[in-house]
Amino acid sequence: MASINANYLKLKAGYLFPEIARRVRTFTEEHPDLAPRIIRCGIGDVTEPLPSAVREAMHAAVDEQGDRSTFKGYGPEQGYEFLRQAIVENQYADLSISADEVFISDGSKCDTGNILDIFGPGNRIAITDPVYPVYVDTNVMVGNTGEADSKGAYEGLLYLPCTAENGFVADLPTEKVDLIYLCFPNNPTGTVATREQLKGWVDYALAHDAIILFDAAYEAFIQDPEIPHSIFEIEGARDCCIEFRSFSKNGGFTGVRCAYVVIPKTVTGSTPDGTRIPLHQLWSRRHSTKFNGASYPVQKGAAAVFSPEGKEQVAALIQHYMGNAALLREACQTAGLQVFGGENAPYVWVSCPDGVSSWEMFDKMLGEAQVVITPGAGFGAAGEGYFRISAFNSRENVEEVCRRLARVFG
Ligand code: MLT
Repeated sequence: MASINANYLKLKAGYLFPEIARRVRTFTEEHPDLAPRIIRCGIGDVTEPLPSAVREAMHAAVDEQGDRSTFKGYGPEQGYEFLRQAIVENQYADLSISADEVFISDGSKCDTGNILDIFGPGNRIAITDPVYPVYVDTNVMVGNTGEADSKGAYEGLLYLPCTAENGFVADLPTEKVDLIYLCFPNNPTGTVATREQLKGWVDYALAHDAIILFDAAYEAFIQDPEIPHSIFEIEGARDCCIEFRSFSKNGGFTGVRCAYVVIPKTVTGSTPDGTRIPLHQLWSRRHSTKFNGASYPVQKGAAAVFSPEGKEQVAALIQHYMGNAALLREACQTAGLQVFGGENAPYVWVSCPDGVSSWEMFDKMLGEAQVVITPGAGFGAAGEGYFRISAFNSRENVEEVCRRLARVFG
């Protein structure tokens, strides 16, 4: 008999977003008349079409694949040089990142999960709470945790609460940890960390020989010029940080799939006997063994995000979604709800009215307004009492959500 990875049995219920989809399906089966009214502001999935610069580049790449003289088979596992170079020039200018420190992939969800392949057992892992559930679940899957308690917190992880009091930026751990997951602009709270706060984290990591796994999937939404877009803007980060970036939310690639990981060659981990090994070397080995590269037309499309037309079109998309976020913030505030985030990120994080739990709020918004939101508790125990509204939608839908919020809380 084949034995299984029993760590999977420790996982709580379903992954958050499929679970929300299941509840929405049940609601529509019970209320078929209300189904057409449903507006989805749950999962952060883009709604606007791909920029034309991206589409044209992808079309041209497909045509190349139709001609023997330009046809391409397997590409470099790490990604085509043209894309890695464009990333370095456009996203990391003056940050001392070289093209061979960039690894192209098909998504940050996979990257933030797969990165655990290169770390050994026994690491003390710090996770902010609330948090993007992938970081937690993938640690459970590889056996880095014990069982979950009644609130869903796993034994063995160090949870760092992010609350209204600390501005949803976790305080530094008071003990030594080895791996730290940070996400800024933050999913789910939509808040950002200042340069000083990020410096505090990098200094902590250097002092404790820890690695920061920095998820910057939402950096393109930053409006405040003082807020860093990359952890590599912070001195010392080249020695202790790995950064994850994606084309999903800026270029609208959630359905196309393209992302990248930046691992400076100077970041190292340790063998049991204390020998230092560059993590770049391990990730490179992992990537070339388990991945055959993102597809050529997709990488061509991603590179077009950095063309002059692509930049203009992406800026318009960002402006659109951030305009939505501003409307949602205002509508929640007018409804008397306390609002966070949504100024440098496409997520608005809202306090539930007193005594209402976040899943009760989910049911209320679905039942009374036919609006799908994400319950804060789905992101961790500290998310209880909050809900997240995604600004990824059409303007028309967002305006309608604002009207319905006014009706439900009016
Ligand atoms: C979210 O809604 O948190 C994100 O869309 C999930 C993801 O990017 O995988």
